[in-house]
Amino acid sequence: MLKDDILKALLEAGDYCSGQALCERFHVTRTAVWKAVARLRDEGYTIEARQNRGYRLQNTEYLLSQASLDEAFAAQNFLKRWVFLQQTDSTNLEVKRAAAAGDWGPTLFVAEEQTAGRGRRGRNWSSPPGSGIWMSLLLRPKLRPERASVLTLVTALAVTDGIREATGLEAAIKWPNDVVVKGKKVAGILTEMSTDMDRIEFVVIGIGINVNTESFPEEIQSVATSLAIEQGKRAARTPIIAAIWKHFAAYERLFEATGSFAALKERYETLLANRNREVRVLDPDGEYTGTAIGITEEGELLVLRDDQSLTAVRSGEVSVR
Ligand code: BTN
Repeated sequence: MLKDDILKALLEAGDYCSGQALCERFHVTRTAVWKAVARLRDEGYTIEARQNRGYRLQNTEYLLSQASLDEAFAAQNFLKRWVFLQQTDSTNLEVKRAAAAGDWGPTLFVAEEQTAGRGRRGRNWSSPPGSGIWMSLLLRPKLRPERASVLTLVTALAVTDGIREATGLEAAIKWPNDVVVKGKKVAGILTEMSTDMDRIEFVVIGIGINVNTESFPEEIQSVATSLAIEQGKRAARTPIIAAIWKHFAAYERLFEATGSFAALKERYETLLANRNREVRVLDPDGEYTGTAIGITEEGELLVLRDDQSLTAVRSGEVSVR
């Protein structure tokens, strides 16, 4: 599409591009260039236009693009492929389609906007353009299906460390896989898996991060926040994405080499927001309270119940009181 070509040209130029040069390069009229620029502005890009100089993209550090991802991932060797999409239904669905088409991965899809973003428990996941990181990884791990949930913990570690490194915010993990800042959720993870008999065919690791969201509806203000709200200024998304996959690659290598979560347990516990806090476990067989004291090597939450018995919690929602 012309607007994508023009965006790429403006990004590459990093300076003014004359309207005439764009017309000649893409063999289109001035009006077509002008219309494409107007569409880019509608998508949230700030494009300055000056007589005799042309068009220039502003605030480029806040933009996501194929070019910014190419630069961020040039020196790594974990991801085999990465794809930026201006808009898609859901990056988790992108991964499933790529897997069905034979993509071997690890492949990352990053979208500016999702029209059908999904959260856990079938919930909607609001994914407007410009304000977040919506991305999914296609992975084909050599793991037994019952161990796949550990990958969600590995992801929570990587997202938390990535956010900490790129922003300096004290992000923490709310077991099992929410990332919080000062107790409020900034990121969620949706892991899905396709199995064939007793082996994993592929895993989809979907990550949603509220980066530059300026405000939340009143009913969720007490539980949701964004990196921009917490640090009082907008954050550039590409360095956060790069930091997350750098940490993920390192943790995943360790997990694969040792075949166990043991080597990562200590780091996870250090980052655990619920640790030594009173938690309420919403067990399907009945709610109870206790103190979260850590996790097991299988990634279960260890809860010391009020009656002094120790329970390893596998599923069920845990809420910090
Ligand atoms: C949660 O409910 O906490 C998990 C939210 C996961 C959202 C991400 S955004 C990228 C990927 N695509 C989706 O449709 N969902 C995940």
